[in-house]
Amino acid sequence: MIIGYGQFEPALGRREETLLRLEGLLATAGDLDLLVLPELCNSGYHFSSAEMAWETSEEIGRSAFVDFLVETCRQRNMFIASGFNERDKGVLYNSAILVGPGGAIGTYRKLHLFMNEKDFFQPGNLGLPVFETDLGTIGLLVCFDWVFPEAWRVLALKGAEVICHPSNLVLVGLAQQAVPVHALTNRVFIVTCNRIGREGDLHFTGNSLIAGPDGKVIRRASTEGAEIGTATVDPELARNKLITPRNHIFRDRRPEAYDGLAGRPAAATKA
Ligand code: ACM
Repeated sequence: MIIGYGQFEPALGRREETLLRLEGLLATAGDLDLLVLPELCNSGYHFSSAEMAWETSEEIGRSAFVDFLVETCRQRNMFIASGFNERDKGVLYNSAILVGPGGAIGTYRKLHLFMNEKDFFQPGNLGLPVFETDLGTIGLLVCFDWVFPEAWRVLALKGAEVICHPSNLVLVGLAQQAVPVHALTNRVFIVTCNRIGREGDLHFTGNSLIAGPDGKVIRRASTEGAEIGTATVDPELARNKLITPRNHIFRDRRPEAYDGLAGRPAAATKA
């Protein structure tokens, strides 16, 4: 299976321009089974107002952006996971959508909103789904979810072999450090697709990456360039949860000792 990231700069509030840029990027792509695109790819990130966030959002069933992804997947017989400014029943979600040759497959809505995203988006209300596809089992997370190990763990426990991670990272190097560790401790493949460029005072940090179940970075992008990076991977490796011949990362867990994990510890409720 060939997985990859499509690192580029979506154009804030200019979807037609973003689609042109994406077309140009895809024209440079070789064979691919699964491509991951950045967070909020249909809209851009740094909204100047709630009106801008609203006007740049789309409903999944009526989206020029999703139609473009579906057509691309149909023509190239591939899958794409992309960040998506999603409008649903009068509110917005910072979502990731998975699309394949047969159309839209499923959606994840970002659970852990970063900074000013809290002014525009509702936290996700779809939990942490995984999607069975011809390629294998795919999970989705979005950007700042990287800091919550629980999210990666739940997806892995649900059988995700590849976790697609559309991102608009601004904290220099932190996610790029953490993601390979999440890949290692859950023994999954992770594709983090970050964006590049600036919007206002935000500078997005590029350095998209593909990490393997051994925690190694298989492919890493530059900090500034628009580029597709790919790796040929064997999803079977993500099904083997033995980290030593006598240590299975799921069977050796001790959930009976993790009783604080599912609730909110007192310290967290005070803030
Ligand atoms: C982020 O979650 N976009 C940093």
